[in-house]
Amino acid sequence: MAAAPGSDGRPRAGSDGYELVVTGRAWLDGKLRPVEVGVDEDGWIRRIARNLRDTGHRLDFGESVLLPAATDVHVHFRDPDGPDPAESFASGTEGAALGGIGAVGEMPNTRPPVDDRERWEEKAALARGRIAVDVVLYGSAQSPAAVRSLAPVAGALKLYLAPTTGVEDFPIDRLPEVLEAVAAVGLPLSVHAEWPPAFSPSSVPPSSTEGWNASRPPAAERAAVDRLLRAPSSLRLHIAHATEADTVDRVAGGGISCEATPHHLLLRARSDGDGFAKTNPPLRSEADRRALWDRFASGAVPLLASDHAPHHSAAKEGPFSKAPSGVPGVETMVPLMLELVRSGDLPLPVLLGAAMDRPARWFGLPMGRLAPGHWANLIAIDFRRGRKIEGKHLRSPAGWSPFEGRRAVFPHGHLRRGEILVADGEFVGPRNGAVVRPEYVSTVSRNVPNRFVTKRV
Ligand code: NCD
Ligand code: ZN
Ligand code: ZN
Repeated sequence: MAAAPGSDGRPRAGSDGYELVVTGRAWLDGKLRPVEVGVDEDGWIRRIARNLRDTGHRLDFGESVLLPAATDVHVHFRDPDGPDPAESFASGTEGAALGGIGAVGEMPNTRPPVDDRERWEEKAALARGRIAVDVVLYGSAQSPAAVRSLAPVAGALKLYLAPTTGVEDFPIDRLPEVLEAVAAVGLPLSVHAEWPPAFSPSSVPPSSTEGWNASRPPAAERAAVDRLLRAPSSLRLHIAHATEADTVDRVAGGGISCEATPHHLLLRARSDGDGFAKTNPPLRSEADRRALWDRFASGAVPLLASDHAPHHSAAKEGPFSKAPSGVPGVETMVPLMLELVRSGDLPLPVLLGAAMDRPARWFGLPMGRLAPGHWANLIAIDFRRGRKIEGKHLRSPAGWSPFEGRRAVFPHGHLRRGEILVADGEFVGPRNGAVVRPEYVSTVSRNVPNRFVTKRV
């Protein structure tokens, strides 16, 4: 089946025939109902009905629940050359596919960093032919020059206000200049929002996740958000890995988007928390974690994103102060949340909004909804088939998980534009994912709703 949409980017009209009819149960109009999904030859959903009169090839998922595949706007696949090459485009996108994620946004803090157009093109060339799911490639917004160079190619931009893995200090007095440059090009901007002047340096280096939290405290996130709330209102601004309920409330009022990660939602800082759980921003106190979870479960957090940041266990095992920051999570994000749906702790529509629908719209991708006019990027779930997460069985070469031993519901099937990527929980797919970029970024500047026109770049 051809992967590219019709020339106008829309599902093909024409005969009544579907290339493929997918059957299962789906969450429609507030209920789980048996459905048949008609998919055309270009991999778009054409029609959904109780019964489709048709002769097309059929794929029957029986009692399983069909959901739209998720979009993860925040992953680090370490290609090219790390830092700490514990992942690659091939393994990372395969992990995404196994975890029910059909498109990812891949971050620019690789080596060399993606800070001009040439480096972006090199990275895109490296991705093509290796990726199992679609990839939006971020460019660096660490300087106005990088923003201007990357504007014609990047799918989104990333700004790190604080040092983190693979990123040095940002000259924070240049923030207004950078934001002006981004506003002029109209690309979405994701910000690592910690404000270094609000860090608490101590004479003793932190030796636990609790100490890490004290050294890069919630006040540093608050101070960064203060600055970002003053950004030009035309910016499509997004706060990466928000850790505080207060951040969620304040940015919503300011017309800014944000994401929460499974690790900040489910794990807390501990006096015995070791280097494996070291991440930026730090895991927070139990009270802060719970407050963030309450916002998330009530639907107040716009996006869920993994900040999949794998590092080798050898690097994580040493002294806390030497351990690199970041935890893996692309393969486990949706399965962990599906288990919480199963247990009644998270409403399914909240998950569908935060992990499937809104992130796709943020990137301007025609997916994330089980509806005509969207790519047939679907996952199949059997809620009775839960299992415990084991790091060594995940696809990432890092081989460990901060969620070791937690129950999760992995999708047993995954289709990309009607093609099978995962069957019976095993990756069986082709590697014909595309590097995608919404068309609107090159044709309009800002404040224009996402049009469902995407092109391969
Ligand atoms: C990320 C990484 O390892 O690339 N680390 C992290 O602690 N989250 C970088 C980042 O997102 O800050
Ligand atoms: Zn970050
Ligand atoms: Zn990150």
